[in-house]
Amino acid sequence: MLRMVVLGCGRIGQMHAANVARHPRATLAGVYDLHQPSADSVAAAQGVRAFASAEDVFASPDVDAVLIATATPTHADYIEMAIAAGKAVLCEKPIDLNLNRVNACAAKIKGTKLPIQLGFNRRYDPGHSAARAAMLAGEIGDLHQVIITSRDPGLPPKAYLEAAGGLFRDMTIHDFDLARFMLVEEPIEVFALANALIDPALGQELNEVDSAMFVLRTASGKQCHINNSRTAVYGYDQRVELMGTKGMLLSDNRKPHELRRYSATTTETSAPYQFFFLERYLEAFMAEIDGFVDCVEKGAKPLASFEDGRRALILAEAAYLSLRERRLVKVSEVSG
Ligand SMILES: NC(=O)c1ccc[n+]([C@@H]2O[C@H](COP(=O)([O-])OP(=O)(O)OC[C@H]3O[C@@H](n4cnc5c(N)ncnc54)[C@H](O)[C@@H]3O)[C@@H](O)[C@H]2O)c1
Repeated sequence: MLRMVVLGCGRIGQMHAANVARHPRATLAGVYDLHQPSADSVAAAQGVRAFASAEDVFASPDVDAVLIATATPTHADYIEMAIAAGKAVLCEKPIDLNLNRVNACAAKIKGTKLPIQLGFNRRYDPGHSAARAAMLAGEIGDLHQVIITSRDPGLPPKAYLEAAGGLFRDMTIHDFDLARFMLVEEPIEVFALANALIDPALGQELNEVDSAMFVLRTASGKQCHINNSRTAVYGYDQRVELMGTKGMLLSDNRKPHELRRYSATTTETSAPYQFFFLERYLEAFMAEIDGFVDCVEKGAKPLASFEDGRRALILAEAAYLSLRERRLVKVSEVSG
């Protein structure tokens, strides 16, 4: 049993703690949060100890690995501390909001044999990964186009947006990662278009956007389109389409159940999509812990690595440059 501690007991940390606790090959060895009541409440719910400090977690001989689900600006520090203490790491996205900080962290942990897995949970989604496997098996011939639709069900609170680091680094980072995962090739050019369509006032106040479209192209000419919205009134919209010379694969949205209703005024109405990421990607969040345990116990390579996290941030930076300068940007302009 892999003894894991969850750092951060907020929205996603609570879910991770519950998932680790019920995982057949992992044990929740405790939790830690700077905000003691949050840690105490999750510790009580899971029947585990709340550590008094992060230092105590890293010094503990009873901890094999940490799952970092704290606020984004703490991730790089905690990765470095964990590796220095000999603990394996599963870290939520993004590694950091600043590419220089990510590069400094990469330099510090260089050469470590300890697994570091990034929380790009969508790679572990059964539908998305089946689509990729089918594509790799040649079912659609040569891949030409990838279309990623990722729309949230509602605008987050202002306080969240103030700290999130911008739509591209906070939200699209998942899609930049998925684009690389599906294209199986690095995008070399990016074009971004974005506005505050949902709340123009908030957009002006925070200099933030809430609706965006991106076009990416790889060296061999494969194309990818990503579209994002912070508010799709019909629910959390998560679709991935792969189009090739012999067909198309679609990993579609999911509903809580498949009941369809028919009446005199409507046909085929069904339940709304699963509400948000905690519901839609529940299996993926469990599978990423599975993958992590394999990394630690069997020496498997993380499906989503630190370098994948760095590459996704590079695409976000290229997209911001494109948005600012209103032009197609070469990824090499930001990655050096
Ligand atoms: N993979 C996904 O789909 C996904 C979804 C949501 C959030 N996230 C990521 O997970 C992280 C947490 O997001 P959230 O929505 O749970 O945020 P949250 O604000 O609900 O929770 C963050 C928690 O971290 C704690 N914290 C802050 N600084 C700390 C420190 N130095 N040490 C210990 N605890 C500290 C806070 O007290 C809080 O309880 C973010 O990096 C976010 O980008 C990923």
